[in-house]
Amino acid sequence: MARFTLPRDVYHGQGALEALKTFEGKKAIICVGGSSMKKFGFLDKAAAYLKEAGMEVDFIEGIEPDPSVETVMKGAQKMLEFQPDWIIAMGGGSPIDAAKAMWIKYEYPETTFEDMCKVFGLPKLRTKAHFCAVSSTSGTATEVTAFSIITDYNKGIKYPIADFEITPDVAIVDPELAKTMPKKLVAHTGMDAMTHAVEAYVSTANCDYTDPLAIHAIEMIMKDLVPSYNEDMSARERMHNAQCLAGMAFSNALLGIVHSMAHKTGAAFADYGAHIIHGAANAMYLPKVIAFNAKDETAKKRYGVIVDYMGIADKSASDDEKVKALIAYLRKMNDDLNIPHCIKNYGADSFPTENGFVPEEVFLERLPSIAANALLDACTGSNPRQPSQEEMEKLFKCCYYDTEVDF
Ligand SMILES: NC(=O)c1ccc[n+]([C@@H]2O[C@H](COP(=O)([O-])OP(=O)(O)OC[C@H]3O[C@@H](n4cnc5c(N)ncnc54)[C@H](O)[C@@H]3O)[C@@H](O)[C@H]2O)c1
Ligand SMILES: [Zn+2]
Repeated sequence: MARFTLPRDVYHGQGALEALKTFEGKKAIICVGGSSMKKFGFLDKAAAYLKEAGMEVDFIEGIEPDPSVETVMKGAQKMLEFQPDWIIAMGGGSPIDAAKAMWIKYEYPETTFEDMCKVFGLPKLRTKAHFCAVSSTSGTATEVTAFSIITDYNKGIKYPIADFEITPDVAIVDPELAKTMPKKLVAHTGMDAMTHAVEAYVSTANCDYTDPLAIHAIEMIMKDLVPSYNEDMSARERMHNAQCLAGMAFSNALLGIVHSMAHKTGAAFADYGAHIIHGAANAMYLPKVIAFNAKDETAKKRYGVIVDYMGIADKSASDDEKVKALIAYLRKMNDDLNIPHCIKNYGADSFPTENGFVPEEVFLERLPSIAANALLDACTGSNPRQPSQEEMEKLFKCCYYDTEVDF
């Protein structure tokens, strides 16, 4: 038996934020990140709509990018004091993911972070509150997914919490919020969405329900991401939908080792002054992982189908040629979006540079444990080809030096 779960309602299109006016309840807590939602007036708007619906409103502000376990525990404490029956999480993946984890702790105050990380092991939520997610970036699709990514900074590792219990009740996908994204954010979150769709399509858990969502998302992203990056606002609007479709696919079909590798490198070199931003990590690793996975016949055929839909190679070409065309296309997208091809050239500002912020000797020293952690990541199980420790280390080296994957 398989399960396909999505939010009960997805409000989308211009002005979708107004749906908050129709919510029923007594108290709502709005969770946001640093300042963008406040600065651009969306926080005030959301609060006004909820008040119009007759609710008392409180706020959890300042949730940091790549939220920590401590932020989650602090926020849950605030929820326990306020006792909301609606949690409204607004912003990028970071505040929404943090709010999802706060929700678990609010419903079950004795739960530890280790308990939360048991894959598909959460108790029933919604005994205290329902959850609405309003996305302001076009990438993570956490507004429709069963995932939350929290970082344990003591270990420098991102942990996915995975359970359909944390699939939001309501998603609001209003393109108005995505208009204010700076270009770099458009690039990174957009390639995150592309990776979601591609990984979902070749995942071992793919099915007839998830395939059309993944394929349509890929077709939209290939058309709309670069124009959206170049400030075409109608493309930006379509990207907001495309990333959400990709999310619907991967929330049910799961992901693969591009994400395992991104999760385990994101904060691994934070002591050298930067993070490898999630979407940029995916963008760099995806072409390498495609080459690795294509040694699996089923995966290779599926990449071929993706290429047929994208129309970037002759239909009569061999699957090997189609895989090559897909890799070349994705690398060109990275060039168009000013994303480097490898960790060695990844600057502290995320742009391509001769000498990236991760020193070679530090990378090599940490490689065995990073690779071991990536193998243990929750996304590894559904990857079409299971790497050994040695293969994972080799794959990471290809991602560091931008060398060809021939194993
Ligand atoms: N839950 C999932 O299914 C899932 C999937 C993929 C990634 N993630 C996680 O999501 C996080 C990344 O989320 P993200 O990429 O959405 O970025 P983010 O939430 O970390 O935000 C990045 C920055 O962009 C700003 N910002 C957000 N929206 C803006 C807007 N509309 N205009 C201007 N500035 C804006 C924020 O203030 C912040 O400074 C990572 O921790 C990643 O691991 C989660
Ligand atoms: Zn992702």
